[in-house]
Amino acid sequence: MPESVSLSATTLESRIASRQARVGVIGMGYVGLPLTLLFSEQGLRVSGFDIDQAKVDQLNAGSSYIVRIPASEIQEAQAAGFRATSAYTDISEMDTIIVCVPTPLDKYHQPDLSFIEQTARAIAPNLREGQLVILESTTYPGTTEEVLIPILEAGNPDGLRAVRKHGESGFYVAFSPEREDPGNDTVARRDIPKVIGGLEATATKLASALYGTIFNHTVPVSSPAAAEMTKLLENIYRCVNIALVNELKQLCDRMHIDIFEVIDAAKTKPFGFQAFYPDPGLGAQEVPERLAHPGAGAGLQARHRRPARVAFAHHHRTSAQGGSAGGVQRSLLPHRGPRPPLRAGHDLHSAGGPWPVRRCADCDRPQQLRLSAHRRRVEDRDRHAQRDEGHRRRKHCALLGAVGTRLSHLSRKSGGEGGAPEILKAHPCPVT
Ligand SMILES: NC(=O)c1ccc[n+]([C@@H]2O[C@H](COP(=O)([O-])OP(=O)(O)OC[C@H]3O[C@@H](n4cnc5c(N)ncnc54)[C@H](O)[C@@H]3O)[C@@H](O)[C@H]2O)c1
Repeated sequence: MPESVSLSATTLESRIASRQARVGVIGMGYVGLPLTLLFSEQGLRVSGFDIDQAKVDQLNAGSSYIVRIPASEIQEAQAAGFRATSAYTDISEMDTIIVCVPTPLDKYHQPDLSFIEQTARAIAPNLREGQLVILESTTYPGTTEEVLIPILEAGNPDGLRAVRKHGESGFYVAFSPEREDPGNDTVARRDIPKVIGGLEATATKLASALYGTIFNHTVPVSSPAAAEMTKLLENIYRCVNIALVNELKQLCDRMHIDIFEVIDAAKTKPFGFQAFYPDPGLGAQEVPERLAHPGAGAGLQARHRRPARVAFAHHHRTSAQGGSAGGVQRSLLPHRGPRPPLRAGHDLHSAGGPWPVRRCADCDRPQQLRLSAHRRRVEDRDRHAQRDEGHRRRKHCALLGAVGTRLSHLSRKSGGEGGAPEILKAHPCPVT
C-alpha cells in the first residue's frame, strides 16, 4: 500500500491479511448467508445482520432455513464467532460491511431500491472512518454512486465522506456483483472470479484483499458502475439466450428434432458458441422473469450439469428467414401436428424445412414461413377494425349515458319520475 494512503486503509489491509478484520454481512438470504459461511470458514469473524428477527433467532439457535445449507455449517460458524443480529448499532464494530439485500421489481416493473435505501439509512449513523462498504445486490449502473453513497454521506453524524481520491480520508465504497449459481456443483464457489469496482483505487484494492480470502481470482474494474453493468450484461446474456433456446425447442418439437441433440452437436464448435438449455425460467432470482416462475431457473440449468451455451447457428438461420434478431417469432413457426411425408411441391429451401407449401386462407398466396407475417397483418387489421368499432360504440354510449342522466335529472326537477329516458331504453348497443 503506498505511503500516501491513509493509516486507516493500511490498518484495514493488514487486519484483512491477518484475518483479524470483522466482517458484517447485511441480509441473511440466499446470497448473504453462504457468503457469511465462506468468510467464517476462512477464519474471519462475521456478524450477520437482518431485519427479519425470525431468521436472526434461527441462526443464533444454530439452525438453517436454506435447504442446501445444513445446520452443522451454521454451528461451525458459530464456534468460529459468527452471530446474527438485527441491531444496526453493531455496524460500528465492523471493519467491512457487505450489503446483500433484495432488489425486486415494483408493480410497475421498475427496480425497487427501497431495501438498499433503508439499509443505507440504517448504516449511516454507525459509520466510522476507514470502514469499507460493499454493495452486492443486483442493481442498475449508477446505484452505488447515486443512491448508496449520498445516503451514507448525508446520514452519518461525523460528516464522513466516501473516499473519491487517492489519499483522502473517509470511508471506502465498492460494488461487487454476486455470481452464485445455486445447485451448480460443477464449479467450486472459490473458483468463480469476483468482479470488484471501487470508487477509487484504494477501495478496489481493499475489497480485492477481502474477497481474496475466499475467492481464488478477483477481477478489478475501473468503477462501481462498470461492475454493476458487468452483472447486468451477464444476466441479460443469459436471459436472451435461454429465451432463444426455448423458442428453438418449440420449433424443434414441431419438426420432430431433439433440441438436446442439436445443442450437443453445436457445442462441439470450439469458438463463438455457448450452450444454454430449454428452461421454464430464465435464470436466477435477479432475472425479473423469475418472479413469474418462482423456483425455476438457474438450478435447472445447473442440473443439466452442462456449461451454459447458446445456439447462434440456428439463430442466424431463422433470422435469414425473416425472424427477429432476438429469437424466433412464434408466427414464423410451422403449423403444429405430425410432420407430413415429403412429396413433389414441397419447398425445402425458402421455407427452411421439409413441410408442404400451404396457401393463405385470406389471399391464396403460397404460405411459406414468411407468409405467416402476411396472415398476421390481415389478422391485425381485422382486430384493429373490431377495436375501433368497439371504441366508437363505447364512446357513443358514454355520450348517450351523459345525455340520459341529464335528461333524467331535468325530468325529476320538473316534477316527472326521472328514470331512463326512452332514447336509452331503445338503444340497441350491447356495450354499456
Ligand atoms: N439468489 C440468487 O441466486 C442471487 C444471485 C445473484 C444475485 N442476487 C442478488 O442478491 C441480492 C440478495 O438476494 P437474495 O437472494 O439473497 O435475497 P433474499 O430475499 O434471499 O435475502 C435478502 C435478505 O435481506 C434481508 N433484508 C431486507 N432488508 C433488510 C435490511 N434493511 N436490513 C437487513 N436485512 C434486510 C431480508 O430479510 C432477507 O433475509 C438481490 O439483489 C439479488 O438480486 C441473488
